[in-house]
Amino acid sequence: MASTHQKIWWSTVLLFLLSNLQHGTLGDPQVSCYFILGDSLSDSGNNNALSTLAKVNYLPYGIDFPQGPTGRFCNGRTVVDVIAELLGFNSFVPPFATAEGEVILKGVNYASGGSGIRDESGQNLGDRISMNEQLENYQTTVSQINDILGSDSAAATHLNKCLFTVGIGSNDYINNYLMPDLYPTSRLYTPDQYAEALIEQYSQQLKTLYGYGARKLALFGLGLIGCAPTELASFGPSPGSNCVDTINDAVRLFNTGLVSLIDDLNKNFSDAKFTYINFYEIGSTNLTAFGFKVTNMGCCGGQNACLRSSTPCQNRSEYAFWDQFHSTEAVNLIFGQRAYKSQTPSDAYPIDISTLAQL
Ligand SMILES: *[C@@H]1O[C@H](CO)[C@@H](O)[C@H](O)[C@H]1NC(C)=O
Ligand SMILES: *[C@@H]1O[C@H](CO)[C@@H](O)[C@H](O)[C@H]1NC(C)=O
Ligand SMILES: *[C@@H]1O[C@H](CO)[C@@H](O)[C@H](O)[C@H]1NC(C)=O
Repeated sequence: MASTHQKIWWSTVLLFLLSNLQHGTLGDPQVSCYFILGDSLSDSGNNNALSTLAKVNYLPYGIDFPQGPTGRFCNGRTVVDVIAELLGFNSFVPPFATAEGEVILKGVNYASGGSGIRDESGQNLGDRISMNEQLENYQTTVSQINDILGSDSAAATHLNKCLFTVGIGSNDYINNYLMPDLYPTSRLYTPDQYAEALIEQYSQQLKTLYGYGARKLALFGLGLIGCAPTELASFGPSPGSNCVDTINDAVRLFNTGLVSLIDDLNKNFSDAKFTYINFYEIGSTNLTAFGFKVTNMGCCGGQNACLRSSTPCQNRSEYAFWDQFHSTEAVNLIFGQRAYKSQTPSDAYPIDISTLAQL
């Protein structure tokens, strides 16, 4: 039951958060640099010049963002924007596509809409920067940092203190495994085998990131993909559920594998800290209790694409989804806040981002 005091508590949390964000934070950020890898949930404009359907640098995307449409797949701030603000940064992390000069010392965002752990994921949408290519771009940045700081060891010392967040894997389901007409993976792998294959590949990618200096890494678990309007439109809700349960079951196998991988990585690389952000659990929050009225349709486009110049819903804070895949800024504020500072023991494992930042 959604109790009234729970609502009041949440409103207080949100008000506190909003006032902190509006007043900016005093002094230096809690980490001197923040690097971001991932997909559309983190992209801040890397796809703008690519030939792809996964590109949103037009209104109504960005309608609530200070700079308007930037390529963010949201009406306003993404989860990584919220995390950057909570860490005390006074500007958002620039996309790799346009970041130049010494600003790269403070961090770069490599995330690309449509991208996945597997190279082929998202190819139905057009060009995208896969996780493997994002790692190549990151290596380009590392060599630029070597040049700026004068030596490899100075660069390594700098990077060791930076925060990294990685949010990838959704498109390996949405734009791969769940599209049997276009991809063979669902015939080649059971859900269990697929999750295992993804985790194996992700493990190699994370070790590459470690090899290039990353020591503080927060890895985003996959959310409730089976509750996204697009999946509801394609497959229909399961009996007695608001979501496509088989999809959520498959996604949970990935998340379980990711938690084991994180345990393994923390054991094997004792000079690094990897942590898991449980967006599946955080996303299971009953949003109705927090003023959200529509949770099964996008504010823009309903269950279909949010097209250029379309008119979105009036009150964006009543919708959980901005478009058929992506959450609204209102939801991202909750997600970012809980990733930064856990509100239940299951939100982050073993530590939240505020703790990781202080290590
Ligand atoms: C969520 O909260 C709303 C309003 O507080 C309530 O009516 C609804 O039954 C809850 N849903 C679930 C699945 O608990
Ligand atoms: C960690 O080390 C163990 C023992 O050497 C090895 O079996 C395992 O594959 C390693 N895990 C990772 C993720 O590197
Ligand atoms: C928008 O929705 C929220 C949550 O239901 C509500 O508190 C607020 O008053 C609404 N704002 C407007 C302008 O309707």
